[in-house]
Amino acid sequence: MFRQVAQLPLDYDLFKGHDSIFNWSPAGSIIFGNGAVKKVGSEVKRLGGKKVVVCTDEGLVKFGVAQKVIDSLSDAGIQYSIFDKCEANPSVETVEKVTALAKEADMLIGLGGGSSIDPAKAAAVMVTNGGNIRDYEGCDLFPNAPLPVIAIPTAAGTGAEVTCFAVVTDVEKEWKMAIGGSYNIASLAICDPELTASLPPLFTAATGMDALTHAIEGFISRASDPISDAILAKAIKLIAGSLQRATFKGEFDKDARYDMMMGSTMAGMGFINTILGIAHSMAHPLGAMFGVPHGVGNAICLPVTMEFNLYSNPDKIAEIAGLFGKDTSGMDTIQAAKLAVDTVYELLDSLPIPPLSDWNVTPDDIEKLSEEAMKGGDRSTNPRETTVEDFEKLYQKALTLKK
Ligand SMILES: [Fe+2]
Repeated sequence: MFRQVAQLPLDYDLFKGHDSIFNWSPAGSIIFGNGAVKKVGSEVKRLGGKKVVVCTDEGLVKFGVAQKVIDSLSDAGIQYSIFDKCEANPSVETVEKVTALAKEADMLIGLGGGSSIDPAKAAAVMVTNGGNIRDYEGCDLFPNAPLPVIAIPTAAGTGAEVTCFAVVTDVEKEWKMAIGGSYNIASLAICDPELTASLPPLFTAATGMDALTHAIEGFISRASDPISDAILAKAIKLIAGSLQRATFKGEFDKDARYDMMMGSTMAGMGFINTILGIAHSMAHPLGAMFGVPHGVGNAICLPVTMEFNLYSNPDKIAEIAGLFGKDTSGMDTIQAAKLAVDTVYELLDSLPIPPLSDWNVTPDDIEKLSEEAMKGGDRSTNPRETTVEDFEKLYQKALTLKK
């Protein structure tokens, strides 16, 4: 008999002001630190798991990262099976394959980026609820609590280890679905910055810009609140101070890797309570229609959308300049906000992020992309109202960057 889930308190106010009653949900437990991955076996045991499915990708098996998890599971006497076919923008079909394996298990481990953690979370929902994953697009549409999931991120990016939804791509419909719910959160996140030490520059930059986009979009969201503000401001500061070092100094800067992992996890904790903004509305169709990696899409769309949002939330955007360590003394709010936008354009310029044309996105695609961007849920919390014509202009600008 599966445990029934409490429904996400959507009857509380999304937009949090002094005249509202709102809910703020923390993440599941977090174990954080260099070498923390060695704890996975004992943690599975502590949580009552006997047989787990490790959901990961071929690269992590090839480079020995999965072996660290396997060694720890073996030492603790935990049975396991491995699914190593997770792909970028994980599909409905991948979730179905993981689900088939997980029916024999009592716990899942998502090892990787969102591309491994999200199918683990989605399969955990499917095992206890049956049906088709498309049935659960939205919030708390599954009646039974999912199987427990342990999330072990190997990149500092998505925050999937602490967020309460799984993003799954419906390839047929060219659509990214969010399977959300208060119980669709990993029971435990094991965050080990050392796992990110050897990531190549492009990957580090793209995933890091995804994390920065979470932190900034959450910080300026219409649904922001004082608790999230505190967490997201610190996340912005950590990422701003470490992303270039993590990208260009790779294995030689352990502190940068540590700060990036902490920043991306904190950004995840914040943005699940604030929702995001239109950089994500734009990045999702780029991923679903053209396979643009999520971090690349966000990296390019972030400064463009900050510029668009500037006059809608100038105070918060001005604060971002300070979080990047810029001296705003003597500036008025708009000048400081413009400095923040310029700073993020400069950051993008400095990073090895490829242009959208590398995925064959052309001006002819803008109309369809804009229509799709209008359908995304993140638009509702963006500081500025956004029309399809606005999206067309934003995509036009995005296509001119990084050439
Ligand atoms: Fe994201």
